[in-house]
Amino acid sequence: MNTIKLRTFTLAVLAAASAPALAQSQTVSMPVPDEASIPKGPMGDAVKRGKALLTDTRKQLPSNVGNGLNCTSCHLNAGTTAYASPWVGLAGAFPEYRSRSGKVISLQERINDCFQRSMNGKPLAFDSSDMNAIMAYMKWLSTGVPTGTNVAGRGFEKIDMSLKPDPVHGKSVYTAQCASCHGAEGQGTKNPQGGYIFPPVWGKDSFNVGAGMARLYTAAAFVKHNMPLGRGGSLSAQDAVDVAAYFTQQPRPDYAARVNDWPRLCENAPFA
Ligand code: HEC
Ligand code: HEC
Repeated sequence: MNTIKLRTFTLAVLAAASAPALAQSQTVSMPVPDEASIPKGPMGDAVKRGKALLTDTRKQLPSNVGNGLNCTSCHLNAGTTAYASPWVGLAGAFPEYRSRSGKVISLQERINDCFQRSMNGKPLAFDSSDMNAIMAYMKWLSTGVPTGTNVAGRGFEKIDMSLKPDPVHGKSVYTAQCASCHGAEGQGTKNPQGGYIFPPVWGKDSFNVGAGMARLYTAAAFVKHNMPLGRGGSLSAQDAVDVAAYFTQQPRPDYAARVNDWPRLCENAPFA
């Protein structure tokens, strides 16, 4: 492949990696169902159990979580916040092709990806009651979203990937805008129960190097729209890229299976 072809190919794969299948699918609004619509009986109990597992993951699933996070540390407000990778509509979006895996994957596989990477832990068995409860919650969250469509706000806000990162400036953004909650050493702020009020962004209790949040522009897109918490959208895109360049490069748990990522691309990591 010559350089230009390789570059075009790489960019196409990058676009696919950060915005799953958006090009092919119709975009619809993001309806969040009312809690009162959770049915009574075993199905409703599963939906509620699923929500509890996703919001209190570290405590509820200690054998599957290897850090200090809950799923909702990133998927804000129980997976209902647009541009914080919401779970609304995912029941009809998967199975889906993912470039990181190089194949079509199920929603269960995608969930386990986050258990192994974002939570630095272990996968759930596909037929376990815990996995079924998580699937039940995501299915209920997808009420009214037509199969094969994407909700507006799926994934993260687009970020200009031509912005050049400056981690030195990023450190000063971090100190001024993030350290009050996430700690000067990225260690987070603990609560008396042993969990975190403000989760760590690096160190042993953080996501591992194979996580989506460890990728500079993914982290920048999350931060730009959602952080500082309660003041999302206040950072410039450049400041978001700079602060992401700083915190993604700090020490965090390793992920050995990362060498198998992006099997269809010439290099394993398509972007830093
Ligand atoms: C450290 C932040 C973080 C945590 C914690 C986290 N995730 Fe994720 N999750 C992400 C990112 C980032 C993406 C998008 C990754 C990408 O673009 O490659 C994502 C994507 C997903 C998706 C696919 C969304 C879509 O639109 O296709 C699902 C499902 C998901 N996560 C479930 C979970 C579950 C379940 C947990 C807890 C076991 C969890 N996540 C914990 C960061 C996180
Ligand atoms: C007011 C406190 C506060 C400030 C300031 C703040 N955050 Fe957060 N941040 C949070 C909370 C709380 C969560 C988890 C949300 C939840 O559990 O509902 C979070 C989640 C995160 C996450 C995903 C979870 C993790 O720990 O990896 C990242 C990354 C992050 N913040 C980065 C930043 C960056 C970068 C800044 C500065 C630009 C920042 N935050 C400023 C409170 C804050």
